[in-house]
Amino acid sequence: MMKLYKDLKKLLAKKAHHFLRRGIFFSHRDIHNILNLHEAGKKFYLYTGRGPSSESMHIGHMIPFMFTKWLQDVFEVPLIIQLTDDEKVLWRDIKIEDARQMAFNNAKDIIAVGFNPENTFIFNDLDFIGQCPAFYQNMLRIQKCVTYNQVKGIFGFGDSDVIGKITFPSIEAAPAFSTSFPFIFENKVLPCLVPCAIDQDPYFRMTRDVAARLKLPKPALIHATFLPALQGAQHKMSASDSNASIFLNDGPKQIKNKINKYAFSGGQPTVEEHRLMGGNTSVDISFKYLTFFLEDDERLAEIKKDYESGEMLTGELKKIAIDTITPYIQAYQKRRSQVTDEVMQQFFKIRKINV
Ligand code: TRP
Repeated sequence: MMKLYKDLKKLLAKKAHHFLRRGIFFSHRDIHNILNLHEAGKKFYLYTGRGPSSESMHIGHMIPFMFTKWLQDVFEVPLIIQLTDDEKVLWRDIKIEDARQMAFNNAKDIIAVGFNPENTFIFNDLDFIGQCPAFYQNMLRIQKCVTYNQVKGIFGFGDSDVIGKITFPSIEAAPAFSTSFPFIFENKVLPCLVPCAIDQDPYFRMTRDVAARLKLPKPALIHATFLPALQGAQHKMSASDSNASIFLNDGPKQIKNKINKYAFSGGQPTVEEHRLMGGNTSVDISFKYLTFFLEDDERLAEIKKDYESGEMLTGELKKIAIDTITPYIQAYQKRRSQVTDEVMQQFFKIRKINV
């Protein structure tokens, strides 16, 4: 009883994350199951991941991880992070050795978000799966539940896709079952919550179908939208286009130049027109980025009002975006510089985690 009371108090004391308040995490499957479990003092775990695809990550990649860190802090549960270096070998023209290296670089970028080494396990598929028979056995159980016809329907695979792609969904699904990690969970069956970007939902629709057949708990999900590219909301940020996004290793000058030069503006063509008609915050990328990175609701509302009334000009709005994002990235870079190989190895160590 005492514990339930403490948990509730803690939950209520913490304001919902601004990603929730602003609909950046906007949909879910079965999240109430997880909240009910938590209220009843029962345990669950978090699982998320990343397909390492470039040497350095951009701020869009960080959104699910920033939110996952918040979930981990609020719920104090184990977190598992899968780095699908194998996925990138299958989908792109990338060599196995290079994909592994990217996984380790990305792991450091992810750790610098601030995850707790006590209850976070990070693995890359290429190194881990061969060491963990229980994981492979779950992969096989999953593979046995899904036909080619189903996987084709879910992912759109065709005759010229390599066969590795067809089995890959079982690799992304397996971590959603606690029995894949006996060294952490000691074969206990714990429910799982997966924070992810919305494009990963097909994997977990499949996983939820399979769970029912394997008599294991269906993973719950919470989905994020994408941070748009600097050039506008129609583009998804691409890691290979250095001008489409702000990278975690960009310096203050680059951040300033990129926002000034590329951030799509909802302002009017001339100052006169702008003063008269005001700016459009629903297409303005500097404003959009502020909704992701400026936590203060009142300040954000004020900026919206001033920009839409024409009182605030695009240059001024861009300056606020630059002044908000730059210190954020700099603080991140300071943490990143402290993530040594030894720090990283703590997270990758196959070990028991207190549930
Ligand atoms: N397929 C994801 C990507 O390309 C990586 C991933 C693996 C993942 N497991 C996950 C993402 C679980 C979210 C949740 O980025």
